[in-house]
This record gives sequence, structure tokens and C-alpha cells, in this order.
Amino acid sequence: MDRETELGLIREIIGLAEQKSAFLDAEIAHSPISRYSSPERFEREMALVFRRRPVVAAHSSELESENAFLSKDFLGLPLLLTRDGEGKAHAFLNVCRHRGAKIERETSGCKRVFTCPYHAWSWSNQGVLRAVPQEAQGFPDLPRSERGLRRLPTAEAHGFIWIIANPDAADIPDIDEWLSGLTPDFDWLGLSDHRIAVMETIEINANWKVLIEGGLEAYHFRIAHKTTIGPHFPDNLLTYRQFGPHMRAVLPRNAMPQLGDTPEEDWALRKDANLVYTLMPNTQMLVQQDHFMWFHIEPVSVDKTFFRSATVVPKSAPSTEEMEKHWQTNHRISITALKEDFEIGEEIQAGFASRGNPSHLFGRFEGALNRFNLTVEEMLAS
Ligand code: FES
Ligand SMILES: [Fe+2]
Repeated sequence: MDRETELGLIREIIGLAEQKSAFLDAEIAHSPISRYSSPERFEREMALVFRRRPVVAAHSSELESENAFLSKDFLGLPLLLTRDGEGKAHAFLNVCRHRGAKIERETSGCKRVFTCPYHAWSWSNQGVLRAVPQEAQGFPDLPRSERGLRRLPTAEAHGFIWIIANPDAADIPDIDEWLSGLTPDFDWLGLSDHRIAVMETIEINANWKVLIEGGLEAYHFRIAHKTTIGPHFPDNLLTYRQFGPHMRAVLPRNAMPQLGDTPEEDWALRKDANLVYTLMPNTQMLVQQDHFMWFHIEPVSVDKTFFRSATVVPKSAPSTEEMEKHWQTNHRISITALKEDFEIGEEIQAGFASRGNPSHLFGRFEGALNRFNLTVEEMLAS
């Protein structure tokens, strides 16, 4: 982000605060509840959104060293993520090409070769078939090149490993193009030079979009978070911009509207505001003063979502005991507030069954929620 953009975003907040106005879309909007409650709709989202677009599968620091691997179930696929000896990241299905056994049972570690526990076929961490016991007798003329691990298109950028969660997909788009203009922001934040300090996964009985929507408005802050983070933020003040399918929101803290009294050269966006990046479809980043929270969203069913929250910190920050405690404390504070959102999200989801409410309303200051939903609709239609 260049300095002029940074100052412009701050001026916009000061202007809104002076006018005592929220950031307003032209009109209110309706959101049919079938978007959040229909299993058929959920299946279409999986097929046309989550299995067609680049999704973040892991943070690069989870696969830091050469020959590191991660194995996990993700979006219904058994995934094996590897980093080869040259540092390149790969994603494969963790499924044996002989008779389908799960090849790697450990969730993480360091390996050059993966050997199936059933009949010991083995593959390199680049997915190449290396050995087949008793091959000459049992599998004469085996076309080995056709029995490499099934590969998922993979790219690494801005500290994340992105995949297309579909082994039939030919390729993954260039991630900077996919980010549609957010690259300068991510370079400014130095996203590539971060590591995970704290991480946890919570299972939430709510649709994935209900959870993302909670991060796109500040209308609820002073109410739902009144005893936690709410008092630190001006009431209902949040601006947003779209970047292709993605979004950046600015969430000022109490000091920002007062900045008009200080010289512009002293202004710093990250000092007095949080930034929320929503990267379609499964990533949100809440950028705070000295770190960011990474929300990694994995829909499981129409009304269940795994929500992984990580406190991600600059690699340059000292890794002293004191700093680790600082990150732990920050993580706790964020999770406490998030759980207030999740509790409400689960209640919203439970309420869908009553069918008393055919649609939700998005007020003019909830425009980001409408834009987010329209983006999903566009992806479903394309
Ligand atoms: S199923 Fe893996 S080697 Fe036979
Ligand atoms: Fe919230």
C-alpha cells in the first residue's frame, strides 16, 4: 500500500466521523436464508466455489523446512502437502495409487520418501513413484509415470500455500492476478515474512458465510462485544473496498477520528485501525498493530464449519519467552471476542429451521455483507 492510499483511508474515516455517518451503500439489501440453510446450495458452493478457485491450504511456515510435510483432511480431501529438497511446495492426494490406502498417517514431519503402509509402494516428495515390491513378477510393464501421486495445482505466495482442491484441475491461476490488486497491500504488510505463533481450530455449528459476515460490519461491535473489544472502537464505523472477488475493510479504533488534530506525517493506518482482508473463498486476515490473525475457514456441511484461528507474527520479532506470552495473550483476547460472534452465529443457524424469516436484511452500513454474498452468487452463476 502506498502512502497516499494509507492517508486516503484515514481521511475517509475522519470525514465520516465528522459527519457522524457510517459508510453507506445506496440501498438496503435482502439475503435469502436458503443461502445459508439449503444443503443443495451448499453442494453447489463446494463444486463451483471451493473446488474451482484458489483456496489457501496452509501457511508457508507450517511447511517451513526442506522435505517437510503436512497431512490433513481438507474440504473433504485427504491432502498431503510437501516441500521438496529444492524448497518447492506440492499438494497431492494422500491416497495410494495401488489400492487406495492412506499413504501418510502422521500429520506432520520431514520425509523425502513416502511409503504406503499396506504393500510398501513408495513415492518421492515430488510425487514420483519410486519403488514397487515384487514389481517384475506382479506388475510387468507397469506404466510408472502414470502412477505418480495425484497432484493438486499448487502455488505459494505471500506466506500461504494455495491449491485448487480438485485433482482434475489442470492449473492454478497466478496468485497475484487472482488477488486483483491486493499485492501492494500484502507487500506493505510483509506477509511473506511471518510465522504462526499460536493456532487453534474450533468446530462451529453455522454456515461458513454466517461466520465471514460477522467480520464485515461494525454495527454489532458496541452491542455484542460490549464488555470485550467493543469499547475500543467507534460505534458502527467501517469502510470497505472490493478487489475483484476480495475485500479490504478498515476498522478504526477510537483514536483515529481524532487524528485530524495531528500532522498527517504522524498518521499510521495500522497504529489506529485494524484491517480485515476477506480473500474469497476461505481466508480472512485481521491485521492488528504488530501481527495478524489468520482465519482459515473450512466448510464441512451447510451448518458446520471448521474455523482455524492463528496468530501470525513477523519472523523478525524476537522469539523470547516474553514475546511468546504477548502473542498468547493477544490470541486469547481475540478468541474471546470471536467466541461471542460464534455463539450468535450458531443461534442464527439454529433459527433457520423455524423458517420464520425468509430473508435477512443488510442495512446500508452492512453493504460489505451484500457484496460478499453477490460475489458468491456470481461464482455460482459462472
Ligand atoms: S494399497 Fe498402497 S501399496 Fe497397496
Ligand atoms: Fe464480532
